[in-house]
Amino acid sequence: MQNVGLFSQEGLIILVNSLKQRLIFLSRFLYSPKTIGSITPSSKHLVHALMNPIPWHNLKSIVELGSGTGIVTHEILQRAPSDCHVVLFEQDQALRQYLHHRYPHISLFSDAQYLTQKLKQLQLKQVDCIVSCLPLTNFHPSLRADILNEIQNALTPNGLYIQYQYSLHLKKWLEVRFSSVNIRFIPLNIPPSFIFICKNFIQ
Ligand SMILES: C[S@@+](CC[C@H](N)C(=O)[O-])C[C@H]1O[C@@H](n2cnc3c(N)ncnc32)[C@H](O)[C@@H]1O
Repeated sequence: MQNVGLFSQEGLIILVNSLKQRLIFLSRFLYSPKTIGSITPSSKHLVHALMNPIPWHNLKSIVELGSGTGIVTHEILQRAPSDCHVVLFEQDQALRQYLHHRYPHISLFSDAQYLTQKLKQLQLKQVDCIVSCLPLTNFHPSLRADILNEIQNALTPNGLYIQYQYSLHLKKWLEVRFSSVNIRFIPLNIPPSFIFICKNFIQ
């Protein structure tokens, strides 16, 4: 591997890509702070903590809501079985274009509010797991309730919903909707985050 100054060529490509992602993310945050929700993509600590509760070996379908520049998407695609259906939602058009360029073969939609409708288009009635990076605490309560209804309806009985937030505000919203809610704190992220690991009711 050729060395360029302090870095190997591969290391330099990773560094440039990471800087590019941060810049795109920051520019979208400055454009729409409430819907983007954070100034920088999730840390690797947060991403790994989101991935750890997922039963990857028998996973048939997984949805990511609020994919941003794809930092969580990348890890999902690394871990998901080859026959697992991966579906992404990202509302910001510039980020969606970036994601489409990065993952041209992955199903990608805009607004998480239309989750069940879009899954139907893919002939997917329900999915095993939903990982959400949506800044739900910033949303108007009626939009938050609509999206949580969509998530519940889109999950298989006993399906897994994993959500991160920067506060515990969402806790009471989740406890009335899911059969179990476990919370983990991830200090090594900007800002430090809480992960909610929720199980759907077995209907
Ligand atoms: C905190 S960022 C997370 C980005 C990335 N997943 C990460 O962990 O770094 C939240 C993302 O949710 C997207 N978003 C906000 N509202 C949305 C909606 N209604 N439907 C889909 N995506 C939405 C934003 O555009 C933003 O990219």
